[in-house]
Amino acid sequence: MDKFVVRGGNPLLGTIKVSGAKNSALPCMAAAILTEDEVILENIPQVRDIETERKLLESMGAEVELGYGRAQHRTHIQCAILSDPVAKYEIVKTMRASSLVLGPLIARTGIARVAMPGGCAIGGRPIDLHIKGLEAMGAKITQDHGYLEARTDRLKGAHIVFDKITVTGTEDLLMAAVLADGETLFENCAREPEVTDLAALLTAMGAKIEGAGTSTIRVQGVAKLHGARHRINPDRIEAGTFLIAGAITGGDLNVDCCDPSHLGSLLSKLEQCGVRLDVGKDAIRVRSEGAASGQLKAVNISTEEYPGFPTDMQAQFMALATQADGASTITENIFENRFMHVQELNRMGANITVQGRTATVRGRTPLESAAVMCSDLRASASLVLAALVADGESILDRVYHMDRGYERIEEKLRGVGAQIRRMGDVFGKK
Ligand code: UD1
Repeated sequence: MDKFVVRGGNPLLGTIKVSGAKNSALPCMAAAILTEDEVILENIPQVRDIETERKLLESMGAEVELGYGRAQHRTHIQCAILSDPVAKYEIVKTMRASSLVLGPLIARTGIARVAMPGGCAIGGRPIDLHIKGLEAMGAKITQDHGYLEARTDRLKGAHIVFDKITVTGTEDLLMAAVLADGETLFENCAREPEVTDLAALLTAMGAKIEGAGTSTIRVQGVAKLHGARHRINPDRIEAGTFLIAGAITGGDLNVDCCDPSHLGSLLSKLEQCGVRLDVGKDAIRVRSEGAASGQLKAVNISTEEYPGFPTDMQAQFMALATQADGASTITENIFENRFMHVQELNRMGANITVQGRTATVRGRTPLESAAVMCSDLRASASLVLAALVADGESILDRVYHMDRGYERIEEKLRGVGAQIRRMGDVFGKK
């Protein structure tokens, strides 16, 4: 298992580029199931979850060519024949977002067999709302041997009100509705930019969708979709992580190729914290004097669905809060059990206590290097951020979590002055 070795203390200076959004790329790749034609996606990030989705699509009979060497990271996907519409457990267990193929598979082939995702480090994460929505559209759903099977002659338009806002649930059912017979009206939808990105691709493929990006989406089903070319949005969570890296290290960092309009709630919290931001059209310059200057002030955050503060930035913001003067409270409203990074941050010298859904971070505490364990994707990012300001050399174990969603993070950070390197396990154990 690879590790990161990080020596803290360097301010990050220069320009760092943001890759395409993993959470847009995953549903967009699944959308290729909806047509026999070729779908071309640009700006696909080179991360492990994308590789997993490639395997998943290929296992069903799709042809996928991930174009990492090419300009724009251009990826070609063609699902001319889907000989085996099954999402196998071996693949699904490593990536919960695999449930995104359920909707498009049943819409295209009338049958889908998808392994039930197992538990996950950040909570139970059920898919009951995906199932309920498909049933409302006429699918018959059964469960056997850990698999969920959905069947229908053709899905029918329906009126679906989500009991709870779900990002991949909205995406999954949107992909089902575009080929359904008649109109589907969705209410209480996720408004995340990733939903809007998927809807833009589906529209380019011939789907009739209104209202993506709002809580009410209306879809007129069509009989067939065709191929399309689409560019994936920049990754707002990667951009946010870099902004915090600039702020926490007392750097002067230009976070380039991002979409500032997707970062509103984070930017306002950073400004409240005392971080200076110059927001351009597709870049944000972040400047801070660093923790020692006393410039960083405690702020309270509470995670919410978009456009609220993203749960995927909570762990990284907590690392910053350890370097701000005063007590910050951080409330996690989306997922239970998403404070696994707290223990590791405390081992590095932070003073964080958790009560129920709220963590209180008492800053500023100098951080010291330690050997720490990454527990999930965003928790890993928070530990990298803490290590960048810690005194001495930290070793981060299990960075495969990080590789699920951050493209070449150590190279990108090294390019702006961080001392970080990847180390393979000397014993070669997996
Ligand atoms: C997506 C993102 C993830 C992000 C999350 C919340 C992808 C691939 N992943 O995950 O990075 O952290 O949104 O912004 O895009 N829920 C149910 N039943 C369901 C579905 C969800 O109860 O059928 C609950 C979940 O347990 C959770 C909440 O709804 O408490 C939100 O989850 P959801 O938006 O579905 O998260 P994901 O789409 O899995």
